[in-house]
Amino acid sequence: MKPRQILVTSALPYANGAIHLGHLVEYIQTDIWVRFQKLSGHECYYVCADDTHGTPIMLRAEKEGITPEALIARVHAEHSRDFAGFHVAFDNYHSTHTPETRHYAEDIYARLKVAGLIEVRTIEQYYDPVKEMFLPDRFIRGECPKCAAHDQYGDACESCGAAYAPTELVNPYSAVSGATPVLRESEHYFFRLSDPRCQDFLREYTQRVGAHGPVLQAEAANKMQEWLGAPGENKLTDWDISRDAPYFGFEIPADDGKSSGKFFYVWLDAPIGYMGSFRNLCDKQGLDFDAYWGKDSNAELYHFIGKDILYFHALFWPAELAQAGYRTPTKIFAHGFLTVDGQKMSKSRGTFITAESYLAQGLNPEWLRYYYAAKLNGSIEDIDLNLDDFIARVNSDLIGKYINIASRCAGFITKRFDGKLSDMEAQFDFGSSHFTPNKDKPFGEFSAKAESIAALYESREYSKALREIMALADSANQFVNDKKPWEIAKNPDRNEELQQVCSIALNLFRILTLYLKPILPKLAAEVESFLNIAEMKWADVNNPLPAGHRISEYKHLMARIEGKQVEALVEANRESLNPVVAAVDNSHSQQRHAQHQQASEDRTQQSPWEPFIAIDDFAKVDLRIVRIVDAAHVAGAEKLLKLTLALGEGPNPETRTVFAGIKSAYDPELLVGRLTVMVANLAPRKMKFGLSEGMVLAASDADSPGIFLLSPDSGAVPGMKVK
Ligand code: 2FM
Ligand code: ZN
Repeated sequence: MKPRQILVTSALPYANGAIHLGHLVEYIQTDIWVRFQKLSGHECYYVCADDTHGTPIMLRAEKEGITPEALIARVHAEHSRDFAGFHVAFDNYHSTHTPETRHYAEDIYARLKVAGLIEVRTIEQYYDPVKEMFLPDRFIRGECPKCAAHDQYGDACESCGAAYAPTELVNPYSAVSGATPVLRESEHYFFRLSDPRCQDFLREYTQRVGAHGPVLQAEAANKMQEWLGAPGENKLTDWDISRDAPYFGFEIPADDGKSSGKFFYVWLDAPIGYMGSFRNLCDKQGLDFDAYWGKDSNAELYHFIGKDILYFHALFWPAELAQAGYRTPTKIFAHGFLTVDGQKMSKSRGTFITAESYLAQGLNPEWLRYYYAAKLNGSIEDIDLNLDDFIARVNSDLIGKYINIASRCAGFITKRFDGKLSDMEAQFDFGSSHFTPNKDKPFGEFSAKAESIAALYESREYSKALREIMALADSANQFVNDKKPWEIAKNPDRNEELQQVCSIALNLFRILTLYLKPILPKLAAEVESFLNIAEMKWADVNNPLPAGHRISEYKHLMARIEGKQVEALVEANRESLNPVVAAVDNSHSQQRHAQHQQASEDRTQQSPWEPFIAIDDFAKVDLRIVRIVDAAHVAGAEKLLKLTLALGEGPNPETRTVFAGIKSAYDPELLVGRLTVMVANLAPRKMKFGLSEGMVLAASDADSPGIFLLSPDSGAVPGMKVK
């Protein structure tokens, strides 16, 4: 069989957030598939990159006081660390902020322009007059025009689900500066998707059944038909691919080679990042880029994505590629979202779990790979990580069924037979149809299952593959239970039988390991080393461990999960947010809803200021002007001053005692008489030095020295409310 040439991608994660368990569904799903292809002897490359451009990344860097380049370099290192930690083995993990991606973005843009598919139009958009920038829909907030819910995004209401234009919001404000946005005109560049060439192509492409099967899953193909509308209906409108400065991205080249002052929208260059990353790999390894991306390429191209970004991958992206003269994706594999214990991941519940924290808590990444595989199939249904089921399944299947086979038999071989296996010819009489051997299949059913398990991996039906593999593990355990090597071992006359039973069990264990290898690559490598064999390929299923083969000493291969480890993980990820904030925060993350996709491209990234609080949250804090009527050192306290604060004027004002950590910056005597601001309704806190009945407000920054107590403008008097 001629090896297939396959290029695989996963969606590029944004360079302003941590990898979490929701992301990992996709990367683990893809990695298993790629490992299976490589194991089967195909030429398969897996590339990815950080998605680095756009307003949120620009603002996040600004908020952190660093350049966007410094931010994306740091996040690239974090993402690379997390992926490696979960054994996600990219052939290249690049970035979109690279010469390669710029080259292909400019190239595709130029080709679309030559084809007459780029149009410049003036549009009216909200502008933040304070921050002096146009606002993405996501950065405009206000009241929903339909249900009047407060603090809704510029494109859709989280409360009633309505979709609308930002200009319809009531009392809009900028989420960046708080200013009221104004409408301003600006020239934008559009990709003319409404052109019949794009429409006709997409109508055919989204329903295409190619040599490798349908391009899209049935659910996705139906959705596309809905979005495209009936022929002649032209529901797909032109796509705005430019953004105004300030923007972190690639500037759009002007005709005269000068600067246009416009930038490619992040979603224009993101998928082009797949090409950029692969180009970078080609340059490093001397591969032929055109063999994979050229119009007449025979290679297969697969994109693994979340169902929420189908719009970009199944419509915009193939239309761009086709019209610019490149090949189009062979298939697009969409998957559903992750829920944890049946609900959206939530920071307040501790189920918004980062990859980093999972590894830091000492949980084994292959437990999660196994569990996800046990849940994954080829559909776009959501998958649930049920934490109790996670513990139960890993312990009962992975440890109790699979590892158990080796742990019950290996010791006899090492201790009693100097690590040597018996002659396999003698194995033939153990009377189970499950592994009765024949000429080609030394382990009967066990090796014969290779084909059906391979087909299940190929079609991403991992849960079914695992069911088959675990059924085989059951029969191997049944064999060990029936033969009872621990009983045989008591009788020295039955030495040969003992060696044979254990040798057979280890052979079955070898085949199971091969079947599990795409899912459990690290464990499989440890088993290969324990069995003292070379790296196994899929075709090795029929190469049993030969007679007299010597295995290495068995060391325990995998520990059980303890319930308290999972409890500690959830605790470590729990953020104590109040319910209002938690609800807002939880509603976007990975859980974007496809129905708003067309209008809501910018919803796909969060503002660095999120989670936002509602005005009602802020109103809960009772801030008051106070006069410091006394200030004193506190014996034994390094940082504290004891302040007596008056909440009113006159002879007997209400006073509060507050211990404030401002000793390094203020001489207590100089504070007496001055006005400042306190939180008057903070719950009193018992400290070592006495009861603290509130808190004064001061500015400080981890990066620069100093503590600066707030003062009101003249005219304010003690007791006044600050709001
Ligand atoms: O939705 C997201 O997280 C995007 N960063 C995915 C981009 S995928 C591809 F187009 F680059
Ligand atoms: Zn609403």
